[in-house]
Amino acid sequence: MALPPGPPQPRLVQVARWVVRPTEFMESCFRRYGDIVTLRFPDVDAVAISDPEAVKQVFTGDPEVLRAGESNAFLEPVVGARSVLLLDGPRHIRERRLLLPPFHGERMQRYGELIAEIAERDIDGWPIDRPFAIRPRTQAITLEVIMRTVFGIEDVERLSELRAKLAELTDISGSRVRWVGLLLPALQRSFGTSRSPWSQFVAARAEVDALLYDEIARRRTDPRLAEREDILSLLLQARDEEGEPMSDAELRDELVTLLVAGHETTATALAWAFELLLRNPSTLAQLESELAEGGEEYLDAVIKETLRLRPVLPIVGRLLKEPFELRGYELPAGAMVAPCIYLTHRNPLIYPEPERFMPERFLDTQPDTYAWLPFGGGIRRCIGASFALFEMKVVIPAVLRRLRLRPVGDHPEPMRRRAITFVPARDALVVAERRAADLDAEFPQAPGAATAVV
Ligand code: HEM
Repeated sequence: MALPPGPPQPRLVQVARWVVRPTEFMESCFRRYGDIVTLRFPDVDAVAISDPEAVKQVFTGDPEVLRAGESNAFLEPVVGARSVLLLDGPRHIRERRLLLPPFHGERMQRYGELIAEIAERDIDGWPIDRPFAIRPRTQAITLEVIMRTVFGIEDVERLSELRAKLAELTDISGSRVRWVGLLLPALQRSFGTSRSPWSQFVAARAEVDALLYDEIARRRTDPRLAEREDILSLLLQARDEEGEPMSDAELRDELVTLLVAGHETTATALAWAFELLLRNPSTLAQLESELAEGGEEYLDAVIKETLRLRPVLPIVGRLLKEPFELRGYELPAGAMVAPCIYLTHRNPLIYPEPERFMPERFLDTQPDTYAWLPFGGGIRRCIGASFALFEMKVVIPAVLRRLRLRPVGDHPEPMRRRAITFVPARDALVVAERRAADLDAEFPQAPGAATAVV
């Protein structure tokens, strides 16, 4: 048999369900067809899997057969053709080898103080005693963190210029309507006006590129290059197996990739952590008391459970170059096989009471590589996983030691699609109250001071 069964609806109906109500669509497929199901979209048949054994087979399968870069091609206008996200085969391996060392778990410690400082400055400006959405605030923090730790920019004026330009670029590509418009090659034209979404996008991208190329040029001649800790400086000194450095164009594409892959994702995961904690007061109380005692084990578990229950990216795809055998099916070349993060994390055989937020699941146990996959897996596993986990570990305590938060509304916020991520429907709406100064003493240690999660 070639493809597993799946919903019989026309392709356009299935893609509409996937775009408009993705969680309901995935759940109804799981209930009806189980942990392997074929979704039929206008451009591809996607076989969604949520059984860890099958997920393992895909993540450990031959990368020449299971191509990820091709399924990310739609990101090219933003990240560029040389981005690690878009490459496959030997070029992907080369790029990954260059990028990975600066993101090593232990290196992240060095960014702890800077991340805490950035977070604290932002948190001190959060509104008090009136509702506001957390996600835009965590997004401002994660953007600043990337500009400082990845790009290594310190100059205040350059930071503010880049911040404004990047906001323009990500605003354009982040809005749902514009995003869909920008993805359609037919709409990637100016239509003779500088006001068309494509023209605006191209102009914003050119401005960002000019700033990034300028930064790369300055850094190349920086006499302190060898001592610098930021990721751009490390990438400038990296050499591939032939001893070749990365070109400026390659560096530009990877900087934008790291920004696009790293800032909204981490910001959204942080927003979900607060949304879930505030809806589960006893868990929040437990976390606060652990932090007051200087522990980090429960915080680790809270972060893992947040990423299980509210994975920011619901699914990852591999496009088949050759037929691939999976669970008794001979999946044809041209089909996509897609480990479904969202459904795997809700599989009741792996996670009893899957809808409950229970960090205790992860106390004293490491999550299974093929059953806990918020960062994907195999040779495409997220390069920034340690970075994101570490950043969350610093930012969550930084917020909790300054503010007492309460949620707005009686119901948990459902998941809403924003471009390719799943965000809280109201961006995690909260009201904050400042903790009395003496309560600061409850959290004596510097936030996130100890170890990274992985
Ligand atoms: C909570 C935050 C994050 C989540 C949930 C997340 C999730 C993911 C996922 C699901 C993938 C695809 C993996 C696959 O196809 O198997 C991915 C890839 C990637 N992520 Fe992340 N990510 C996060 C943060 C970051 C950060 C902070 C960075 C860098 C600053 C980053 C950089 C990348 C890169 C470069 C790739 C492409 C890897 C490749 O194709 O080889 N991510 N991420």
